[in-house]
Amino acid sequence: MTTAPQVDLTLSPRMTDPDWWRQAAVYQIYPRSFADSNGDGIGDLKGITAKVPYLQALGINAVWLSPFYPSALADGGYDVDDYRNVDPKLGTLADFDEMTAALHAAGIKLIADIVPNHSSDRHEWFKEALAAPKGSAARERYIFRDGKGENGELPPADWTSVFGGPAWERTTDADGTPGQWYMHIFAKEQPDLNWDNPEVREDFLKTLKFWSDRGVDGFRIDVAHALTKDLSEPLPSTAELGVEGQLLDGSHPFWDRDEVHGIYAEWRRLFNQYTPPRTAVAEAWVHASRRARYASPEGLGQAFNFDLLQADFDADAFRSIITKNLAEAEATGASSTWVFSNHDVVRHATRYGLPKALELAEATPTVAAPGADANSEEAKGQDGKAWLLAGGKPSDVDAELGLRRARAATALLLALPGSAYLYNGEELGLQEVGEIPESERQDPAFFRNPGVDIGRDGCRVPLPWTADGSSYGFGSDGAHLPQPEWFAGYAASAQDGVDGSTLEFYRSALALRTELQGAETLQWLPSAADVLHFTRPGGWHSVTNFGTTAVELPAGKVVLASAPLVDGKLPADTTAWLV
Ligand code: NOJ
Ligand code: CA
Repeated sequence: MTTAPQVDLTLSPRMTDPDWWRQAAVYQIYPRSFADSNGDGIGDLKGITAKVPYLQALGINAVWLSPFYPSALADGGYDVDDYRNVDPKLGTLADFDEMTAALHAAGIKLIADIVPNHSSDRHEWFKEALAAPKGSAARERYIFRDGKGENGELPPADWTSVFGGPAWERTTDADGTPGQWYMHIFAKEQPDLNWDNPEVREDFLKTLKFWSDRGVDGFRIDVAHALTKDLSEPLPSTAELGVEGQLLDGSHPFWDRDEVHGIYAEWRRLFNQYTPPRTAVAEAWVHASRRARYASPEGLGQAFNFDLLQADFDADAFRSIITKNLAEAEATGASSTWVFSNHDVVRHATRYGLPKALELAEATPTVAAPGADANSEEAKGQDGKAWLLAGGKPSDVDAELGLRRARAATALLLALPGSAYLYNGEELGLQEVGEIPESERQDPAFFRNPGVDIGRDGCRVPLPWTADGSSYGFGSDGAHLPQPEWFAGYAASAQDGVDGSTLEFYRSALALRTELQGAETLQWLPSAADVLHFTRPGGWHSVTNFGTTAVELPAGKVVLASAPLVDGKLPADTTAWLV
């Protein structure tokens, strides 16, 4: 076992500031698709280390690393075999330490993804549970139940998994006869852990300590609202269940139950033992009024708000979402979180360029709609997935308009108080990849929902670093998901140093943001319909034109524009910053 290196946190004041996370620009790396150092087609930790200078030049404050643990990749790494190790396909613990040290030396914090609701079915505990008899301590770490029906042939409940199909899977006993069932909210390779079991709680504390001791600065908590469950008999039927994301009283048998906060209070005590305290952000698809509990200082400290991600490109929608979330953050002491793209949704440069009819029909936010399943892939996709399913290609999309709006939206997002979460590749203006053959798709959401869900592979295609060469500079020999030819036009090398390129636009915006960022407040200023104008302390103004005709800019010096001004005016689908 490698020993963790001593991380020198005295490198810069920002690195020791306990509030570093409050307004951080956090860049999400999907490790298998970022950079491949050894030519096996899979991105790895050494690949990330080699790109630290790129990350530093980009101007981000932290990296959030999606799961890098040993995994059969039944769900892109969110099926973890061993929580305290590195997937050999991605490297070793020594590579992890080297990457962490390189990030820290560049002034970049590291946030690790923690997946506590379920392990993989290859985890030692689950193998033990399958080999152990009914009622054993090994089975008590998961959720095993007898089936219903004369011979236990029916699942304990008719619940559907988030990825489609049943949420219960039958096991086979050692003698080959059908046995008990286990619960899995996601794929069948992701058995749910039993959080009523103190051993499970202890083990996760050990995991959080393990990575914190190695220098991890914070954690992103996967499906943070699912851990505690009330599975007392009789289990309700689907028809009797409340809808995830819509309940206000914590009464669903497994979504957003009040007891889950007891777990996070315990985690917080551990996080606060470190200097600076470890941070955490909850992925919790809950009713907006219940999000604050996850974000409280006694809990995880921050929770994702996916509201902008689910909104249309619309001034009124943006204004009300921003106002509501800032008020919510202020009330809890958390800071707001903003996000347009991640590894679960269609990239925003594509969403905003969908043909208008589709944009309205498919991209309408569904989480807030009564009766909608907030964790459904439609809800997360916002969506464009129906378009992909129908064989949608970038040529069907107005990619130019999509990117223009994406840049305008990003400039607005980067001017907001709170943390900005960016997804790798968006700084290149990358579009979603629609043209992945069925035989090369990987996402269980696609396989468990034939003809219904296209899945999330389109935003997980390995990044183009160079305009030519094998796998566009991602590695030296191919990529685990096929890259389309049009990726060449988005390559980082083709944008580096090029005035007006999306990469240079992100670099300028992030550098300016660092310079201009002050207290976490915002003041709306009067503006024309379809225009949003706000100011931040210190006289930083952001103006976005969501309309169709150019508008006059307020007085001030323009320091950033997401597209060129026209005759000194702010054209449609453009944001400008002024000081
Ligand atoms: C949310 C993650 O973002 C997603 O990628 C994953 O499939 C599910 N949680 C299950 O872990
Ligand atoms: Ca590799």
